[in-house]
Formats: sequence, structure tokens, C-alpha cells
Amino acid sequence: MIPNRLRRRILEMALAVFVAAGLVLGLSGPDPVEAQAPAAAPAGPKSSQKAYDAQTAAADPDAPGPVQPIPFSHKLHAGDFQIQCLYCHTGTDKSRMAGVPSVELCMGCHAQFGQDLEGVQTLKKYWDEKKPIPWVQIHRVPEHVKFRHNRHVQAGVACQRCHGPVEQMDKLALTSDTIWWPWLLPSAKLEMGWCIDCHRNNQASQDCLTCHY
Ligand code: HEC
Ligand code: HEC
Ligand code: HEC
Ligand code: HEC
Ligand code: HEC
Repeated sequence: MIPNRLRRRILEMALAVFVAAGLVLGLSGPDPVEAQAPAAAPAGPKSSQKAYDAQTAAADPDAPGPVQPIPFSHKLHAGDFQIQCLYCHTGTDKSRMAGVPSVELCMGCHAQFGQDLEGVQTLKKYWDEKKPIPWVQIHRVPEHVKFRHNRHVQAGVACQRCHGPVEQMDKLALTSDTIWWPWLLPSAKLEMGWCIDCHRNNQASQDCLTCHY
């Protein structure tokens, strides 16, 4: 048995290398994926108890939020391992959509380790079948509303202001956040009053055409 502490060090080191490699590849070539395709994936180090617990918590049907096709834990990836939000949600500071990471990006790490985890085995199935993962979208505004991530991120609004403490959540859900209008009608997250309340407090536009087509 490898002691837990050592196992953890190995994982952390592996992680640092893969993140760095991913960043370099991501900057240097149009298709970094081919280079790291897992032809014959070696059996990596045995996964931690924490990872097993995280995938169990992320799959819990009784916890708020939809059950996702893969029990992916933000707490483990963004919290414990401190992988940056923008490393996976690459579009957030540049485009309207935040975007969800590709199977390739996941496999950049998981071709090397985690194969003894059920969630990673499901991930590998999508990779082998060359299918995108059908993640269930949680936050969505209606078609007639204009929302752009980049403008908010560039203005320095933290992801957590709108999405809650994502890095502490195994399973993601729409976190509650109800504000009261001056005339005391409550409005919940993603409703018009929620947007306008923050705009008012931050001298951002409240013009109808700012948010509507
Ligand atoms: C930068 C490296 C890295 C990337 C990218 C990455 N992972 Fe992980 N993943 C890890 C590490 C490290 C563990 C924990 C292994 C351990 O503790 O034994 C893990 C654990 C997991 C687990 C089990 C725990 C849990 O979160 O439920 C699943 C499932 C998983 N990853 C899926 C994914 C998916 C899906 C993606 C792509 C969206 C992804 N991973 C991207 C490094 C990564
Ligand atoms: C290792 C990759 C990875 C990292 C790092 C990561 N995410 Fe995610 N994120 C995902 C995946 C995969 C999904 C889709 C599955 C899910 O909802 O859990 C997702 C979903 C989300 C969603 C829900 C989108 C929807 O459907 O409405 C939000 C919000 C989010 N992430 C915010 C964040 C924030 C904030 C951070 C940093 C604290 C972060 N993510 C870090 C991979 C990642
Ligand atoms: C001002 C509030 C706000 C901030 C700040 C914000 N988001 Fe969002 N996010 C939203 C809204 C609203 C939606 C639904 C958008 C839609 O329906 O097009 C959303 C949707 C998403 C989605 C799923 C749909 C998509 O666009 O791909 C992800 C993933 C996500 N956000 C991640 C992030 C991350 C990561 C950050 C920080 C870098 C962030 N968000 C910052 C409000 C916000
Ligand atoms: C937590 C605070 C906050 C919330 C919540 C918020 N916004 Fe904003 N929004 C801002 C700030 C700050 C700016 C100003 C950015 C700038 O000056 O460039 C802004 C700017 C905008 C813009 C202007 C972009 C442009 O092209 O000029 C649009 C559109 C917008 N928000 C839509 C929305 C919608 C729709 C929602 C609700 C779904 C929302 N916002 C929720 C803080 C917020
Ligand atoms: C800061 C962004 C923002 C501004 C400014 C804004 N809206 Fe909205 N509006 C939204 C969002 C988000 C929704 C969808 C969520 C909801 O229905 O509450 C919405 C929904 C609506 C709807 C549809 C309600 C329904 O039941 O389908 C109407 C009508 C509307 N807005 C009119 C207006 C008018 C008129 C103005 C100007 C006085 C305005 N909005 C300004 C964000 C905004």
C-alpha cells in the first residue's frame, strides 16, 4: 500500500504537470488533442478515497440539481485541486457563452489516471465512442434575453456572485439567491429583478434594450 500522503503528492505532481502541459499545448497548436490521445492508457496510480467520495456525492439524486451523465465534482477539481474556472470554461472571458469543457480536455488528465473511478470509466466511453457528453444545463435565460459572460467577467464580477460557491459543491445546482425590489416583490436568481438589482447597484445599464433584443 502506498501511504495516503504519498499517493496524494503523486497525484498533485501529476496534476501540476498535466495542467502545465495542457496550457502549453493549448497555446501552441490548433489541435492539442491528437498529441495526447490515449492509445493504450496505462493503469495509473490508485485513486484516493476522496475521489470516490466526491463521485458518490456528485451522483446523489437527493441533492439539489440534475443528475449529470458523469458524476463530476467541482469541489474536488476546482476546490481541492484548484484547477482554475477558466481552464475548463475557456470561453467565459471572451464570449457570450461560458461553455463546458470538451471530452478531450478531461482526457488530457484522465488518460493518465483515475481509470479505477466509475465516473472516469464513463468518461472514457464517451471518448472511445467520440461522442460529446450530454451535460444538463442548469442556468439558462430565455431566448429574448441578451446575456454575455465576457462583459461581466471583464468588469470583475466573480463567477461566485452569480453561481454561488461552486468550488465547494460536489453536485452543481442553481443556488438560491432572492432579492427584494424596492416595492417589496421578491425576485429569484436569473429573474429580471435579480439582473436589474445588481445593475442598479453597480451603475450598469438598466435600459430595456441592454438586455432585450
Ligand atoms: C487537470 C487535471 C484534470 C482535469 C482536466 C480533469 N480531471 Fe477529473 N480528476 C482529476 C484528479 C486529480 C482527480 C482525483 C483523483 C484522485 O484523487 O484519486 C479527478 C477525479 C475525477 C472523478 C472522480 C471524482 C469526481 O469528481 O466525481 C471524475 C468522475 C472526474 N475526475 C471526471 C472528470 C471530467 C468529466 C473532466 C472533464 C470535464 C475532468 N475530470 C477533468 C484531474 C483532472
Ligand atoms: C475540470 C474542469 C472544470 C473546472 C476546473 C470548473 N468547471 Fe464548471 N463545469 C465543468 C463541467 C464538466 C460542467 C458540467 C457538469 C456540471 O454541471 O457539474 C460544469 C458546469 C458548471 C456550471 C453549471 C453550468 C450550467 O449548466 O448552468 C457552472 C456555473 C460552473 N461550472 C462554474 C464553474 C466555476 C465558477 C468554476 C471555478 C470555481 C468551475 N466551474 C470550474 C467543468 C469544470
Ligand atoms: C453576472 C452573472 C454571472 C457571472 C458573473 C457568471 N455567470 Fe455563468 N451564467 C450566468 C447566466 C445568467 C447564465 C445563463 C446564460 C444563458 O442562458 O445563456 C450562465 C451560464 C453559465 C454556464 C452554462 C452555460 C454556458 O454559458 O455555457 C456556465 C458553464 C457558466 N455560466 C460558468 C461561469 C463561470 C466559470 C463564470 C466565471 C468565470 C461565470 N459563469 C460568471 C450568469 C453569470
Ligand atoms: C452581480 C451583478 C450582476 C448581475 C447579477 C447581472 N449583471 Fe449584467 N452587468 C453587471 C455589470 C457590473 C455590468 C457592466 C459591465 C461594463 O461596464 O462593461 C453589466 C453589464 C451587462 C450588460 C451590458 C453588456 C454590453 O454589451 O454593454 C448586459 C447585456 C447585461 N449585463 C445583462 C445581464 C443580464 C441579462 C443579467 C441577468 C440574467 C445580468 N446582466 C445580471 C453586473 C451584473
Ligand atoms: C439587466 C437586464 C434586464 C433589463 C435592463 C431589462 N430586462 Fe426584462 N428581462 C430580463 C430577464 C433576465 C428576463 C427573463 C427572466 C424573467 O422573466 O424574469 C426578462 C423578462 C422580461 C419580460 C418577459 C416576462 C415574461 O413573463 O416572459 C418582459 C416583458 C421584459 N423583461 C420587459 C422589460 C422591459 C420593458 C425593460 C425596460 C424597462 C426590461 N425588461 C429591462 C432582464 C432584463
